[in-house]
Amino acid sequence: MTEPRKLYVRSFGCQMNVYDAQRMTDTLAKEGFVETDSPDDADLVILNTCHIREKAAEKVYSELGRLRKAQEEAGRSQMVAVAGCVAQAEGAEIIKRARAVDLVVGPQSYHKLPELVAEAQARRDGNGKRAKLVETEFPVEDKFDFLPPPTSAAITKRGPAAFVTVQEGCDKFCTFCVVPYTRGAEVSRPLSKILDEVVRLADSGVREITLIGQNVNAYHGLDAGGRSANLAELVRRVAEVPGIARVRYTTSHPRDMDEELIAAHGEMPALMPYLHLPVQSGSNRILAAMNRKHDRELFFDIVEKVRAARPDIAFSSDFIVGFPGETDEDFADTMDLVEKVGFASAFSFKYSPRPGTPAAGMEAQLPEAVKSARIHALQALLDGQKAAFDEGCRGRRFEILLEKPGRFPGQLIGRSPYLQSVVVEAPVEAIGTLAMVEVREVSTKSLSGDIIGGEFFAEDSKWESRFTRQSEKLEA
Ligand code: 5AD
Ligand code: SF4
Repeated sequence: MTEPRKLYVRSFGCQMNVYDAQRMTDTLAKEGFVETDSPDDADLVILNTCHIREKAAEKVYSELGRLRKAQEEAGRSQMVAVAGCVAQAEGAEIIKRARAVDLVVGPQSYHKLPELVAEAQARRDGNGKRAKLVETEFPVEDKFDFLPPPTSAAITKRGPAAFVTVQEGCDKFCTFCVVPYTRGAEVSRPLSKILDEVVRLADSGVREITLIGQNVNAYHGLDAGGRSANLAELVRRVAEVPGIARVRYTTSHPRDMDEELIAAHGEMPALMPYLHLPVQSGSNRILAAMNRKHDRELFFDIVEKVRAARPDIAFSSDFIVGFPGETDEDFADTMDLVEKVGFASAFSFKYSPRPGTPAAGMEAQLPEAVKSARIHALQALLDGQKAAFDEGCRGRRFEILLEKPGRFPGQLIGRSPYLQSVVVEAPVEAIGTLAMVEVREVSTKSLSGDIIGGEFFAEDSKWESRFTRQSEKLEA
């Protein structure tokens, strides 16, 4: 019997890439590839790249340089593929700049990986050279119809919280953003296909689903009757799948937070009380220059309505500082918005000009020193809010989903409704169950607490974990 070939996938960037990496692994598993945790003993290395900011995009070239050096030192020649948004945006350029690349594949063509890898292998077997294939067209077929679903073993290995892509691409064209160019126009997957995927995940023990997309609250997939379903309906249908206890969605645009979705936050206990809603800036002048299609007042309005519907909701957001033309007053407006809303957590970035986007050509690009000073001030404010939110959880009781073993034997790590990591003492058999905890300690990275009840811990519990075997392996 031939040895299975080994595959190593390294993902950069957002959750879409994490999900895509899993689908690529599932596709190649059918061709006899098994996953390895180390690039060194892999036969095929896939770099799943991100193009959102310059720093993220540059990482792929340094990673390719590192790979080439390691290959030369070890005297071997692995097959290397570049996938993700840098592949889509820079295609042939990658082949030119990095000699150690066999193939470049854009996000819409992952279902073609088996044939691309086979072709690259055949060319190598023929003339010993790298094939240098580039596949970055937007194909007419839907890749999801061709990507094989994960096996039950693969689902169990990935744990009880899973991502499901429900829409891809974006039609909003914020002036700083490459997504509409790299991921293309907004496309929603049909409702029934998403539900089939969720049922399959739930059958293998998954308890929490995060519905993901570049602009997920613009979701408008068709249902069986050919009617368009919105995100509120999708969330409801997903929460009804037996076994699913928690639903989240990310990432959203304020413009697409419709009344029905806001009401769903109040009506559905399974929809977690934590909403990531990027605002980018608190200045109406900058929001207009960013083509965000909303002002700060609309954002305040949404926050107020969601809080009224679900009083225990917490918010997270994305911010960009140093957008072209941002004045001290504009930045003060951003700080003011943060103070008024209060965030449980947030991501903030210095504006990074991206090739082909309108903002990259705007005059009044700001000096690096201004961007640095502003990001420090903003992050200090946001860090303080996060610390205060975490501190406010001390003594609180909430449910956590036990996901994996902790650092020390006898410990498990779960996630709170607010995505905080919570360390508890519990047996590995409890992985995949919901436990009620009382939070005892709070640190910058995690909370810890005592279990006071839950599915596994109830007196008459008959819970049999599907995750035990994998957990034992992790612990060993
Ligand atoms: N520069 C800096 N940050 C950016 N983002 C998107 N494009 C850029 C850019 N050109 C940030 C936004 C977005 C998040 C995913 O990345 O805040 O919400
Ligand atoms: Fe980019 Fe704006 Fe679309 Fe978000 S909404 S993906 S920031 S264009």
